[in-house]
Amino acid sequence: MSKGLADILKDYLPKDKTFDILHLQNSPVEVRPIVTVEAQDNTDNDLSDVTIKILHFFSLAYNKKFVFGMEIHVYIILKKAENISNIDYSTADRLLFVSKADTNGYCDVKFSAKQITKGLIRYLFSINPSHYLKKVIPLERKYPKSNLHKLITKETKLDDALHILAERCNESSTTKEMRYQSTLSEPYYNSYKTPSDITSKLCLFTRPADQYLFAESSKNPKKHTLSGAGLLKWWLSIIDELLCELFMEDSIGKLRIPGEEPLTIRRYLKTTKFKNWMVGDIFGGTANSLAIFSIPLFSDDPKSRFLHELVEENRVLTTNLSTFWMELQERQEFKLSETVSVIGISGHTIIPNFLNVTNKDTMITLSKKEYKYIKNYITGEEYNSEEGALESYENVTNYLAYKFNTELLSVIGGMTPRVKTQRVVETQPVVSILQPRKKAKT
Ligand code: ACO
Repeated sequence: MSKGLADILKDYLPKDKTFDILHLQNSPVEVRPIVTVEAQDNTDNDLSDVTIKILHFFSLAYNKKFVFGMEIHVYIILKKAENISNIDYSTADRLLFVSKADTNGYCDVKFSAKQITKGLIRYLFSINPSHYLKKVIPLERKYPKSNLHKLITKETKLDDALHILAERCNESSTTKEMRYQSTLSEPYYNSYKTPSDITSKLCLFTRPADQYLFAESSKNPKKHTLSGAGLLKWWLSIIDELLCELFMEDSIGKLRIPGEEPLTIRRYLKTTKFKNWMVGDIFGGTANSLAIFSIPLFSDDPKSRFLHELVEENRVLTTNLSTFWMELQERQEFKLSETVSVIGISGHTIIPNFLNVTNKDTMITLSKKEYKYIKNYITGEEYNSEEGALESYENVTNYLAYKFNTELLSVIGGMTPRVKTQRVVETQPVVSILQPRKKAKT
């Protein structure tokens, strides 16, 4: 039997401690390409790539309190090889964009945010990509005319919508779920065959903040935050381990620190174990390429905000990648914080058996609205006191029980604590090696 979320996560949680996990996923939805495509006169829309976006939100609870959260956006980009005329896509990218990770400091036992982050990313890379491709909400739905009298769409006029609602009230035996199944069944979704050649990628932007997902949690003196350089090293170590454990040898890891010389960036890479780490990014293009045609647009991402600014300033078609990275570090939001970086990896994974997502593991919401609604029970709370962590847990568990007759996934940790003496042995040589080197340079 293939592993599930709990089987994977238990190896990253402290031994014999019981945690609860909320894992939300929205329905896969087709979106516009994340990298702006250069307009070509003869572009045949049917032959272009298909980009599918899926949101994942994880929150970990201990002792009836949510204590850790992470949001990751998954993009599946289906690509058609040139001169292939059938409808199948021959290759695909599976790109994970880590949007936000945060803690609130209210956990009653010591757990490693680093380990749980690693475990969750491993889980996402282990999901069978076909899970995302069976039922995809198209970019635009073409509703058959025969069904329009039953559906309320963006085009439905107000009085027609009221009529439809009144009719639905009369059909008291039809639940929302049944109506959803009958009216929005297969013809309204796209489905795709899973390409055999899938390149797995991960990218993220490291920028420390007092809080991201748990508002006001910075007021908890027990919350532990990392400096810019600390956060960079923290992520680098997680991603380096994932590269070693999950990726083929010819995969690549890239690190860019806007405004920093390659020499300085290479210093961060000295401690990595995977051999293919380089200075740069996974977005492609050369220094002279236009940034707009290389940099992907992610939601709530400083790089995307800067690209939008370039559009407003009418400079987007003259700004090349070299200028883009140079000017990016001058932006106010960068100046205010410490070291920030862009980390990316790309390659083929060596996961022998992809896992299939089950209802027990994952709560797949019917709409983005529902996804946001449930997530908001956690992110909409205030965490200046422990009450926020307790309230959000209470609200989420009540909602899941009442609305879906379900509960959070329970996981008993199986990770043995690190032996202290090992750490001393590990850290001592680093200190003794680094000190003489510093002296030699001055
Ligand atoms: N006191 C002292 N040391 C502590 C404490 C504490 N209270 N808690 C953890 N540590 C130590 C750990 O022992 C560990 O040390 P080690 O590396 O020597 O083993 C180190 O700090 C890291 O501990 P973790 O449990 O792995 O991570 P942490 O608890 O610091 O959580 C996180 C990391 C989530 C980034 C946290 O710092 C945080 O919430 N920051 C605020 C939000 C933020 O900046 N998020 C990242 C944004 S970037 C992005 O999301 C893409």
